[in-house]
Amino acid sequence: MRKKVLSFLFAATMVMGLATGCGSSNTPASEGSDSGSDAAVTEAADAGEDAGDDAAATDSSSADGEVQVGIILPTKDEPRWLQDQKQFETVLGDAGFSNQVLFSQGSSSTEKTNVETLISKGIKVLIICPQDGAAAAAAVQEARDAGVKVISYDRLITGTDAVDYYVTFDSKAVGAAQGQYLIDNAPEGSDIPLYLFAGAATDNNAFIFFEGAWSVLQPKIADGTFKIANSTEAEALKDKAELSREEIGKIIGQITTDWDFNVAKSKAEANLTAVGSDMKGDVLVLAPNDGTARSIADVFASDKDVSSYVVTGQDSEKASVQYIIDGKQSMTVFKDTRTLAQDSVAMAVDILDGKEPATDSTYNNESIDVPAKQTAIIVVTKDNVKEALIDSGYYEASEFTGLE
Ligand code: BGC
Repeated sequence: MRKKVLSFLFAATMVMGLATGCGSSNTPASEGSDSGSDAAVTEAADAGEDAGDDAAATDSSSADGEVQVGIILPTKDEPRWLQDQKQFETVLGDAGFSNQVLFSQGSSSTEKTNVETLISKGIKVLIICPQDGAAAAAAVQEARDAGVKVISYDRLITGTDAVDYYVTFDSKAVGAAQGQYLIDNAPEGSDIPLYLFAGAATDNNAFIFFEGAWSVLQPKIADGTFKIANSTEAEALKDKAELSREEIGKIIGQITTDWDFNVAKSKAEANLTAVGSDMKGDVLVLAPNDGTARSIADVFASDKDVSSYVVTGQDSEKASVQYIIDGKQSMTVFKDTRTLAQDSVAMAVDILDGKEPATDSTYNNESIDVPAKQTAIIVVTKDNVKEALIDSGYYEASEFTGLE
């Protein structure tokens, strides 16, 4: 049988209200990696003075050299965060702010230095996506001590009260959408092999994504439709509909990719080497995001005993959109970074204007309930890729080949 990604008709699904996403977070053990140390600084034009200039090359902060809003993102090495950078540059420019985007390059200590750099530049609001949710607590405490308001961006900073707001996608809905896609596109029968992969244990989102996926997959595992191929911890918990943070932590301990393509690849290879032929054939793969999905898909595609695979993803990274068009990845989740950047900058504007920003939920971060603004997500497959990502203006059709 020719190797193919099972791709079924799956209409655009605006996944709203699948899960509240609220109130779920605890602090995983800190194990931030310190690889790479260069912080990249993008200083864009102040729209009020220099609109139309080459934004990336110009620093036109306010006359006294101060900047009001600073952004810190986790790494330039994943296309996901370059999408956010691009949106921030636009949104900050449009709002008339001098634009500071710094990258932590996978290092919590670089992240802390970045926070200090921005404090010294006079920021009033810090928008930060932590590399490691627990380790970032110390950095944002410094910001709090300097009178800076902190907005946790996409990933929640845990174990501290020095977080004022949280702007995020509905991460539980992301995981639930991934799990539901596997269910809706599973082959007929029982004992269908299910391979589980997760994000980094230092990222609170990894827990929420898994919680969302488990909420829909667990009944199918418990009733014998699906059979877990690569996690004894998940197998041992298969009859439990709701898992504790600690239980999810144990599973993630086995199936983590660390959000790293290479870890994902070697884990997938090791998994396929370890299983017997009953765990091959037509299989299902829960991959937590696009970068890991592509690595894992390549491994499954090259195993001659895997006849077909359904593999999930998230982020709508360009390379994965191409994989979906080419039938190599089954789905992704579109998290519109334009909305997230706009929402967090709108919050910053409200803060600077002395107004209370609008929020719609809270997330407990093990210390406080952080007021949050949550954004819905959209499932993207071959069938709606054009409508969701091209017609919406997120990407240009010319960036892809074979788009119908
Ligand atoms: C984000 C994902 C991203 C992952 C790896 C998560 O916190 O929500 O969009 O793929 O981190 O960077």
